[in-house]
Amino acid sequence: MRISIAIDGPAGAGKSTIAKKIAKELGIMYINTGLMYRAVTLKAIEENISPDNIEALSMLVDRMDMYFENDDLIVDGQNITSKLTTAEVSKHVASYASIAELRERLVVLQRNLASKFDIIMDGRDIGTVVLKNAAFKFYLTATPEERANRRYKELLSKSAVCSYEEILKDIIDRDYIDMNRSVNPLTKAEDAIEIDTTSLSIDEIVKTILDYIKKDLNNL
Ligand code: C5P
Repeated sequence: MRISIAIDGPAGAGKSTIAKKIAKELGIMYINTGLMYRAVTLKAIEENISPDNIEALSMLVDRMDMYFENDDLIVDGQNITSKLTTAEVSKHVASYASIAELRERLVVLQRNLASKFDIIMDGRDIGTVVLKNAAFKFYLTATPEERANRRYKELLSKSAVCSYEEILKDIIDRDYIDMNRSVNPLTKAEDAIEIDTTSLSIDEIVKTILDYIKKDLNNL
């Protein structure tokens, strides 16, 4: 049986940093589904396709060739990962991610990956929709201020020009859209373990999750 681990939670809760570490520790694949939504958003912006042009958007997704290589997303043969976390993409991604036709297509790709590999996947609808039957589900939270602070420090360490207030606003706006859209909104799966990461270090969160997983794997 394949190992599937679902990690959901709002923007900036530390999901990708934590999922990467767990993937390394367990020797499994990490799939960052947010990058897939970001890639479609970037291409749509480049091709002037608005979120309400559903036909053009669906055709765009259908012709995009996406796969992961060492945690990076390769689209049509190009590693575009560094272009996906800009403020411009972050500002628009939640609007595109609200479109049912786009989500359906990405969910198919994500399930396909999960059927082929042992994986840890992070996003907003992994435990509730994409991997509803995952053996392990976690829901990470932290206050918006703490999440904005983490993102701010991360961007500063990469010498990016950014403002804490703008990051906080982006996080609050994105959470609102993600939690209130009609298709696959962000919500905790009933059987997910919720971890409030506000006052925990990355290593403490990784250890907490690994302890749950290893305890269960030993009992199988
Ligand atoms: O994970 P990240 O913050 O990079 O995700 C960017 C955006 O992509 C989210 O704010 C959300 O709008 C969308 N997303 C989603 N479902 C997922 C993953 C991401 O709707 N499974």
